[in-house]
Amino acid sequence: MPFIIERNDITRMNVDAIVNAANNSLLGGGGVDGAIHRAAGKGLLEECRKLNGCETGEAKATGGYALPAKYVIHTVGPVWRGGGYGEEELLRSCYANSLRIADGLKCESVAFPLISAGVYGYPKREAVRVASECIEEFLLKHDMTVYLVIFDKASFTISKELMGEVEAFIDENYVSAHEDSERTYMNRMEAALRPIKSKKHALAADSVLCGASCEAVCEESLDDMLKNLDESFSENLLRRIDLSGMTDAECYKRANIDRKLFSKIRSDKNYRPSKPTVLAFAIALRLDMDGASDLLRRAGFAFSRSSKADVIVEYFITHGVYDIYRINETLFAFDQNILGS
Ligand code: APR
Repeated sequence: MPFIIERNDITRMNVDAIVNAANNSLLGGGGVDGAIHRAAGKGLLEECRKLNGCETGEAKATGGYALPAKYVIHTVGPVWRGGGYGEEELLRSCYANSLRIADGLKCESVAFPLISAGVYGYPKREAVRVASECIEEFLLKHDMTVYLVIFDKASFTISKELMGEVEAFIDENYVSAHEDSERTYMNRMEAALRPIKSKKHALAADSVLCGASCEAVCEESLDDMLKNLDESFSENLLRRIDLSGMTDAECYKRANIDRKLFSKIRSDKNYRPSKPTVLAFAIALRLDMDGASDLLRRAGFAFSRSSKADVIVEYFITHGVYDIYRINETLFAFDQNILGS
């Protein structure tokens, strides 16, 4: 899973590099800066003294000392002054320069705090958006695992509108195990899927299909599905990727799956994936509920009425939103496991 959002104390992260939200002096301070210096020990400050500070938006690396991480990449975020003083551009360059340095150090994993979202006052929702966009853009061209580490849940919000819509959908569809029988739920799912049962309707409604024409994929997939009912998950996935017109890399990156895991799936036709992995590919392939249920079935899973995560994924699929990072931010906001390997 190349991009992971998780709640943690960044000083505990066992990654190649952690990023410090420092100030221009690089001589320590409060917040995450103070925590990192305390955990690293005095050797870090001695090395920082030799760096002669750091410009806002720039980044400089030091050793990790007593930290689990091998390196600390110090970057200085902008102080929020209302948004009209180039703050977003400076914040973007913090992420871009830190990732460039991590790549130069051959790091396979790096963890970011939410830069500028504390003392420097950057609005948290905007700070999450900028961080996510910069990390996602970097991961399109690089193989690295990047963590966005959220220290206190209050720092992490999704838009109020989306939160409200998803909460309403959960209230409507999520039922705890003792409140609803399996049959009742399946009836509800059947009723929900009936209008999109016919592949033609579902695919024609899904305007973007990665290059392949809706009709071609529609005819092909109906015939194919009948012909390949007993296909394994891996065989079915690879065939769907071919039909979608995406390359393997485009698909697994859209699924927030790392290259190593995809190679395992590709080379073992009986590979047994986790449910979040299957759902991640269903999103990357822009499958409707019918297609996603079929892919889950081939891996031995099914959408479950008593899984809040499944209901949240169903919300995005039925609303035609296939951005795995937005879905993961929402899953994270609801304390659910995120999608990917
Ligand atoms: N692990 C992960 N995240 C943390 C930790 C931690 N141990 N401690 C704090 N954070 C989070 C905060 O909750 C916030 O969301 O890091 C984010 C950034 O907050 P700050 O540390 O205040 O950094 P910033 O807003 O960039 O301000 C930088 O604060 O600490 C001083 O010397 C620093 O002057 C500089 C300024």
